[in-house]
Amino acid sequence: MPALTVGGFSMHFEDTGRGPHTVCLVHGSGGSSEVWTHQSRGLADVARVIAVDLPGHGRSGGEGATRIDDSVAAVHGLLDALGVTSVVLGGHSMGGAVAQAYALAHPERLAGLILIGTGARLRVMPKIFAELERDHAEGARLVSELALAERAPDDLKERVYRVTRAAPNRVLIGDFRACDPFDVMPRLGEIAVPTLVVCGAEDRLTPPKYAEFLRARIPGATLVLVLGAGHYVQLERPDETTAAFRDFVVALDRSRA
Ligand code: COA
Repeated sequence: MPALTVGGFSMHFEDTGRGPHTVCLVHGSGGSSEVWTHQSRGLADVARVIAVDLPGHGRSGGEGATRIDDSVAAVHGLLDALGVTSVVLGGHSMGGAVAQAYALAHPERLAGLILIGTGARLRVMPKIFAELERDHAEGARLVSELALAERAPDDLKERVYRVTRAAPNRVLIGDFRACDPFDVMPRLGEIAVPTLVVCGAEDRLTPPKYAEFLRARIPGATLVLVLGAGHYVQLERPDETTAAFRDFVVALDRSRA
């Protein structure tokens, strides 16, 4: 797994595939690049895919950010260091907040936007903070349970719990602190790149109402609602999610031709 020094610490990322576009994927609260394995593989013949570990997550160094804008700066720094000047930015949950904020801060760098299980406003239920502050393992258990459809298989529940628990508690709490004040609802009309919104129909953390809001307010955005999936739609329905990404990226090529 390669790494580059960004903002004084080592930032790790998976770098796979090749094609006319570079897709950069940003995980959500308590996540890591690991949550994109299926999508990275599935896009490898149509795009270069960079899946990042945000500061403090996965193998990256540094403390986790407690503001979305700090994660935007980290992603921007990494893409700069890689010489990527045009990117299709995808983000899950908190990563989707990073992607929206990036789109508003650096529109000239963006070729497209993929917003997965996220919203333009991400208020966090107080119980999540209370549980994480009381007991890391129990807090991670609550978060990972809410992050999957109720009928998700046990092995997936265990996998999501393992990923979430791997994030240090201060990092996990910092992620939710970054989400809680995030609100770009009034600014979505400024986003002027092709946008795909993907949401699990059973998402309990960022419900379909949030996805529908993104679709309605971002000019020209399309929404793919995935049946049977919760918040971790890319893990719960990997084939459908990857197919939606692929169709979107391939259509970008057609619209450019
Ligand atoms: N897109 C569209 N609508 C949204 C939205 C979004 N991103 N975020 C909030 N809203 C809507 C709500 O549905 C609500 O609409 P209503 O008045 O018609 O019911 C309204 O805006 C106000 O909601 P909110 O700002 O969330 O405040 P609240 O005090 O009603 O609820 C929570 C606070 C934390 C209970 C609630 O936000 C929630 O259940 N969040 C989801 C669970 C969670 O913690 N997710 C983690 C995200 S990282």
